Amino acid sequence: APQVTTRKLVEMKAQGEKIAILTAYDYTMARILDNSGIDVLLVGDSASNVFGGNETTLPITMEEMIYHAKAVFRGVHAATGRAMIVVDMPFMSYQLSSEDALRNAGKLMKETGCHAVKLEGGKAIIEAVKRITDVGIPVMGHLGLTPQAIYKFGSYKVRAREEEEAEQLLEDAKQLENAGAFAVVLEKIPMELSQKVTDSLHIPTIGIGAGAACDGQVLVVNDMLGFNTDFHPRFVRKYANLDNVIGTSVKNYVNDVRQGTFPNESESY
Ligand code: KIV
Ligand code: NA
Repeated sequence: APQVTTRKLVEMKAQGEKIAILTAYDYTMARILDNSGIDVLLVGDSASNVFGGNETTLPITMEEMIYHAKAVFRGVHAATGRAMIVVDMPFMSYQLSSEDALRNAGKLMKETGCHAVKLEGGKAIIEAVKRITDVGIPVMGHLGLTPQAIYKFGSYKVRAREEEEAEQLLEDAKQLENAGAFAVVLEKIPMELSQKVTDSLHIPTIGIGAGAACDGQVLVVNDMLGFNTDFHPRFVRKYANLDNVIGTSVKNYVNDVRQGTFPNESESY
């Protein structure tokens, strides 16, 4: 199948075809996800939480994002090679100046083989988005609940319920489109607002906790596969309970080893 491109995603929106996105952080998962027909893989800085075990996304570094992105790239190319791969720019890799943002976006593209970068925020990053897209690097935006700003927000509550913040978000989305972004993630905002943003843009909106009006959806793969029974916000639909599947399997293995029933003769040389 041909590689999903930024142009393809914009065409999908125009034709009312929904876009399915998941995060990925490693080779094994990326290979399965690409083989399963996912349109886009996001190497999210949520790797900081679900892979690294940090409270927030703030600690993850450029070098760590590059390591994850390379692994995901190899997974996609060991499968069908169809999925487009977007890499999150980590906290403080694009905020200092638009020049620094461009340098780091270029480094992510060059060292990983991935197809696009994602940055969080609105008007504060518009210059950086222009610089990056001007040289030909596709940019995905991210508005609403932007986890790199969690200490400013003070909570993971739904964003933009108030008129003023909602208007600012719509304005930011339009500015991102004008600056050259090919898509924008809307995280944890009311569905009426994501409908309005989706209707106002030519580029696709990708929702997470933003309702069905968005042109596509994204989830953290570990959440939708149920790796963590303690985490169940309402916007996550659990498609599996891998916590349980893995837990039971490992208990059986431990038991077999202890009983001396693994390995058996056919599992030996
Ligand atoms: O890092 C991440 O997983 C993300 C998505 C949830 C949009 O940014
Ligand atoms: Na992210």
